[in-house]
Amino acid sequence: MIDTKTKLVALLGNPLGHSFSHRMHNENFKRMGLNYYYLPIEVKKEDIGELIIGMKKMNFVGFNVTIPNKIEIIRYLDEIDPLAYKIGAVNTVKITNGKLKGYNTDGDGFIDSLEKEGKIICDQNTFFIIGAGGASRAIAMTLAERRIKKIYIANRTLDRANDLCEDINKKIRDCTTPMTLEDKNIQEIINQTTVLINTTSVGMFPSTNETPIDTTQLKNSVTVADIVYNPPETKLIREAKAIGCPVVSGIGMFINQGARAFEIWTGMQAPILEMRKSVERMIIERQQ
Ligand code: ATR
Repeated sequence: MIDTKTKLVALLGNPLGHSFSHRMHNENFKRMGLNYYYLPIEVKKEDIGELIIGMKKMNFVGFNVTIPNKIEIIRYLDEIDPLAYKIGAVNTVKITNGKLKGYNTDGDGFIDSLEKEGKIICDQNTFFIIGAGGASRAIAMTLAERRIKKIYIANRTLDRANDLCEDINKKIRDCTTPMTLEDKNIQEIINQTTVLINTTSVGMFPSTNETPIDTTQLKNSVTVADIVYNPPETKLIREAKAIGCPVVSGIGMFINQGARAFEIWTGMQAPILEMRKSVERMIIERQQ
């Protein structure tokens, strides 16, 4: 039951038709008996400022931000977490006494799922990231903050990989190397890799018959992670499994970035296992 005491959170993005976030969080609040409610709000970039003025007058304690607003939101913040500042994008905001503080939980959410599901410790390991867009930026920056050994960033467009690597090497430390997906040394580099991560949309519904790399290049010593979670098992994950690679699917990152946002807003620990069950159910329902 919503009443005058209900604490509000929201997702600001456009379009939001396919988002699972409000259902995942509302089921959580209900399960835990918390008087919170999560609203999906479709908002254009140019309207965010006015929306925030209104939110500050209401019972909002925070919100998530998604495409196309993750960069735009920064100008409205009073404070930004140092990692989100380096990433240059914010996906979670906490409102305290009318002041907005921005965070980015995407990279940490990904690493949480890698550690819990893939049993991977980041320290001293080598990562091969496919893609150089927003998701890659959050994951690569967050990894670079840990004690990883090396990150290769392979992208269709070399310029974008160059820019991202330069930014990480300058802002955090010199640990990344850019390359294209056609690089002549790609096989050798994949052989040295502990974890290969797809951060592109290749393989996402409806293009479910595509993989971002030729999977014959994989060895079973490489853990393969995909951030795509619809379908829950992408062609990349399916083929990597058949080769014998340990795999980490995209649902984990989605749930863990949400769990970290939940913890920022409520100060309570998120029930990860229950969150996973509800998201898996939602994906199955969507596919029927
Ligand atoms: P996001 O914020 O979700 O990461 P993005 O910033 O648009 O989205 O980045 C998408 C990434 O997927 C980019 O690395 C893009 O490669 P380009 O920089 O060359 O555009 C990559 N990508 C998208 N479709 C692709 C495809 N069909 N093959 C290879 N890479 C693709």
